[in-house]
Amino acid sequence: MEKKILVTGGSGFIGSNFIRHTLQIRPGFQIRNLDALTYAGNPLNLENLPVDHQARYGFIQGDICDARFLKNLFEQETFDGVIHFAAESHVDRSIHGPEAFIRTNVNGTFQLLEACLAMWKQNGSPSDFRFLHISTDEVYGSLGKEGYFTEKTPYDPSSPYSASKASSDHLVKAYHRTFGLPVVVTNCSNNYGPYQFPEKLIPLIILNIIEQKDLPVYGDGKNIRDWLYVIDHCEALVTVFLKGVIGETYNIGGGTELENIRIVHLLCELLDEKLGRSGKNSSKSLIRFVTDRPGHDRRYAIDASKIERELGWKARFVFSEAIARTIDWYMDHMDWVNSVRSGDYRKWIENNYGKRK
Ligand code: NAD
Ligand code: TYD
Repeated sequence: MEKKILVTGGSGFIGSNFIRHTLQIRPGFQIRNLDALTYAGNPLNLENLPVDHQARYGFIQGDICDARFLKNLFEQETFDGVIHFAAESHVDRSIHGPEAFIRTNVNGTFQLLEACLAMWKQNGSPSDFRFLHISTDEVYGSLGKEGYFTEKTPYDPSSPYSASKASSDHLVKAYHRTFGLPVVVTNCSNNYGPYQFPEKLIPLIILNIIEQKDLPVYGDGKNIRDWLYVIDHCEALVTVFLKGVIGETYNIGGGTELENIRIVHLLCELLDEKLGRSGKNSSKSLIRFVTDRPGHDRRYAIDASKIERELGWKARFVFSEAIARTIDWYMDHMDWVNSVRSGDYRKWIENNYGKRK
């Protein structure tokens, strides 16, 4: 099947994994990646693509908030679908500076919808066009000990990040109901894997263990996340893009619920084995319980039965194996790590963790 797709935010963590994986599994797909290259977007994430994949890939630097830029782009090129990853994505940053989140996640999504609607109408409103909006389970707020998020769980976001994503989800659905734009929305749980920026829990802890730095655990460490390997997420997104029902939402999750402290212990154990540390040299001695994140959601857990039943997708990676692969990837890619940790990154670490001690 031949398709030309615009991916937004393709130079970030999930977007770059998505582009690499989709070029490989879908030889008929051509992908254009529109990315502003913020601190989280890195051209290195898409370097060294195989030659036949390079021929089907193109990069466009630009900002989804720039209406004129989007209009020009869609006048020059036509797309069979748009897969929208571009966002500010880190909860802690949204607490320190919410404005960027409102700008990109709310206003940027709005500008992108406007431009897509105009292109879609200009092309005769094709029914096989898709706008796939990538969102998060954080829009549902926090769970207690029991229960799961379903597609019908009411929205109840806690952080400026999740509130801005909730807002973008509503806009996307409104563009379907009001203007008929063929949209599908996904809400996914926490991802882990290669190319994740080392401000998020798993890569931050892996690198701090390697470098024998403090391992900051917020609050009592008993908050629970439902972890999904990034390639499982990417495969779910291709499935929803090709088979999802217009106007529908699909929750995506791996069914691997873990307390943060359990993950940190596990990473210490796996890395200690590789680094030959034990006894009083164990990396566990680096663990520091620090001031909690304000508004910290206690538990996330996804009910993924709709996508499994209706579209036939199911997570296939086992956590214990995929986390080991992730550790190996970071150990083998310290040049990538060093190149993404700019002066700005060091300032962020000082600012976020300096205040928590
Ligand atoms: P990321 O922060 O790693 O990457 C975001 C990308 O968007 C970067 O390449 C950045 O340069 C680009 N970008 C930011 N602002 C832009 C703008 N104004 N115009 C164009 N590009 C811009 O994020 P991620 O972790 O890869 O997440 C991707 C998407 O998936 C986000 O929408 C996020 O909300 C969603 N999501 C993430 C997770 C997760 O665990 N990481 C889970 C569920 C959903
Ligand atoms: P994070 O990776 O920021 O993802 P999210 O907030 O989107 O779930 O955090 C995952 C969990 O780890 C979350 O409960 C907060 C916690 N956490 C820490 O305990 N220490 C840290 O340094 C970070 C970054 C996160």
